[in-house]
Amino acid sequence: MIRPILKFGAAELQRESEPVETFDGKLRDLARDMLETMYAAPGIGLAAPQVGVNLRLLVVDISAGEEKGNQIILVNPEILEAEGEQKGEEGCLSIPGFTAMVDRPKRIRIAGRDTRGNRIELEAEDLLARALCHEVDHLDGILYLDRISFFKRDLIKRKIRKLIRSGDW
Ligand code: NI
Repeated sequence: MIRPILKFGAAELQRESEPVETFDGKLRDLARDMLETMYAAPGIGLAAPQVGVNLRLLVVDISAGEEKGNQIILVNPEILEAEGEQKGEEGCLSIPGFTAMVDRPKRIRIAGRDTRGNRIELEAEDLLARALCHEVDHLDGILYLDRISFFKRDLIKRKIRKLIRSGDW
């Protein structure tokens, strides 16, 4: 089931999400819905707070569903190590129509659980590292706008306020 994606301005996007404690069918339904919602958008990552669920769960597929084997579902993710840096253009399904250059680590090691509670650990670099860092940020109530210059952020926020006023957001 495709769920509505909350947009910038929604309070749910700016709060810290709670760790998942119950690895049940409801969690698996949520993960499946999030993947479906992400692919339909289309996007390469989605975090539970973006669909209004206050839990530490993210999905990422940097092929946006074009290639098999790229799907990542991580529950209670934790970045164990980060090294290097990369600059790149980043967008967010909750901030449609905008992008900005964001600094991220070049490589990360990340751990978490699958939806059955099994521990997962993986290494990621380049775009995958960027996408995972972006989604983990969502679980802490952080948007990429919080990681860019004041001037760029202010410019985007003013444009969004204009869209809100005209009913186009
Ligand atoms: Ni996002």
